[in-house]
Amino acid sequence: MIDKIKQHIEEAQAFNEKNKEALEQFRIKYLGSKGLLKELFAEFKNVPNEQKKEFGQVINTLKSVAEEKVKTIQEELENKEEAKGIYGDLSRPGEPIVLGSRHPIALVKNQIIDIFSTIGFNVSEGPEIEDDWHNFTALNLPEYHPARDMQDTFFIQTNPDILLRTHTSSVQVRYMENNKPPIRTISPGRVFRNEAVSARSHCIFHQVEGLYIDKDVSFADLKQTLLYFTKEMFGKSKIRLRPSYFPFTEPSAEIDIYWGLKTETDYKITKGTGWLEIGGCGMVDPNVLKNCGINPDEFSGFAFGMGIERIAMLLHQIGDIRMFFENDVRFLEQFKSSI
Ligand code: DAH
Repeated sequence: MIDKIKQHIEEAQAFNEKNKEALEQFRIKYLGSKGLLKELFAEFKNVPNEQKKEFGQVINTLKSVAEEKVKTIQEELENKEEAKGIYGDLSRPGEPIVLGSRHPIALVKNQIIDIFSTIGFNVSEGPEIEDDWHNFTALNLPEYHPARDMQDTFFIQTNPDILLRTHTSSVQVRYMENNKPPIRTISPGRVFRNEAVSARSHCIFHQVEGLYIDKDVSFADLKQTLLYFTKEMFGKSKIRLRPSYFPFTEPSAEIDIYWGLKTETDYKITKGTGWLEIGGCGMVDPNVLKNCGINPDEFSGFAFGMGIERIAMLLHQIGDIRMFFENDVRFLEQFKSSI
């Protein structure tokens, strides 16, 4: 009996007819519901105990040889068929395409651009490696000005005139030097500060700068623009401008939005006050206008600067700024559904 099965194995192995009908017959003969294997498995109970092991092994071998044969010849036949048309079988399921996702910072940046472009702001950019003039001096921060200490700066060691920009306010200067008023521009970009990295601050982050220069621009225009922005961005319509100091604006203010105190996270992010600072702003200092070739007797304007990570953390309830820079796909994939 066992020898007989071994012979079947050899026969099955030798089978090599490459046409559908012969293959189907082969399949029925060995694997069909009334086929050889069915019979042999039924026979198993009649086999004497001492032969059971070997018997079991050979019928299993026969089964896998027959199955493998059917599979390979079937594939060969299919491939041949496909080769006939350039596209193969068009009804076969396609390869799944894994969609990427935008980085949350890019998403928020694009949202900000959309909101400001609706009210006529264009987008401008400047270099990340800046000179002293554009980052500090033109912004009313001459050498040895104590306010330079507000921003810990990365300098290029061999040339103290070159640095990594500490804020996007440098782009204001470049834009005013190269464009005549009326000016309405926002400048998103990466900035660098020599700060210890923690859950709340990073040595690299993003800001968006806004600049509006025209005749008779007033503080009321600034406030309305910011109010419009916070409504569009956060759906919040209560803001507060807290008097502050920046060398490049006079008067200057810090922008707080009323976030509310509904949830525990609200308590955490607003430190229990309900208010949250999102940036700085003010009326462009006449000295800055002069430094950039704009006559302060003819034109006035406002400027503001906001942190993009801050806004993204608020919107998406992200508790640690380092997440933005770690490129952990498990974090990034969560933004797939946002466009
Ligand atoms: N550059 C400031 C900073 O990085 C933010 C800022 C404040 C920008 C006031 C402005 C402004 O344009 O008017 O801290």
